[in-house]
Amino acid sequence: MAPEANPFGRRYWEDRYAAPGLAWSGQPNPVMVTEVGLLKPGRALDVGSGEGGDALWLARHGWHVTGIDIAATALEKARAHAEADDPKAAARIDWQQHDLTAWSPKRQGFDLVSSQFMHLPEPARTTLFRSLATAVAPGGTLLVVGHDADVDDLSQRRKHLSGLTYSVDDILAAIDGEDLRIEVAESRSRQARNRGAGSATVHDVVVRASRPHSARAV
Ligand SMILES: C[S@@+](CC[C@H](N)C(=O)[O-])C[C@H]1O[C@@H](n2cnc3c(N)ncnc32)[C@H](O)[C@@H]1O
Repeated sequence: MAPEANPFGRRYWEDRYAAPGLAWSGQPNPVMVTEVGLLKPGRALDVGSGEGGDALWLARHGWHVTGIDIAATALEKARAHAEADDPKAAARIDWQQHDLTAWSPKRQGFDLVSSQFMHLPEPARTTLFRSLATAVAPGGTLLVVGHDADVDDLSQRRKHLSGLTYSVDDILAAIDGEDLRIEVAESRSRQARNRGAGSATVHDVVVRASRPHSARAV
């Protein structure tokens, strides 16, 4: 992918996180909490970890987490927040700065691979989701959540995401052939804050898939 094809490159994210305060809620994503809550903790990979709300929640629940983000500013904010909030959990998080369009996780290296609202243009998105699928260890889980491209939620607000969102079928196509068992594949509604206008119903694509225990380890 030519770098200029993605308006949301490193500079954009560094600037965004350099602004005072939080870019997001600081809380874990509710869909992630719902889908991961009953899994046995192990090694987790959180891609596009942002301010670290998900990574900290996972670490608090016993996971050893690798949080990856393109923005060093986000990783520093996440690290500082986690260390101040829960030093014991923070010690279980390894923050790493990588551009996911040029980095791949270890094959079958994680018991949970979580991608929450990582929106990349094609073909980087398909390449990323496929590499995330290969990173799932036998018995492990892949969870991909993003804004649903098939539903016109908050259309004015989301205009900037045009071409970056995806459907359930896009995710399934990307991970097809990676020997994962599809457990959840749906569009799910939730209430979200709508700047200055109370709340609004938005739709997320949610795909959860697992690699059978019997899969050949590599
Ligand atoms: C919409 S935010 C989501 C943050 C977090 N997952 C959440 O749900 O709150 C997308 C995150 O992905 C990161 N990101 C975007 N492009 C990336 C890339 N090419 N490589 C690594 N991280 C990237 C951004 O810095 C940002 O933190």
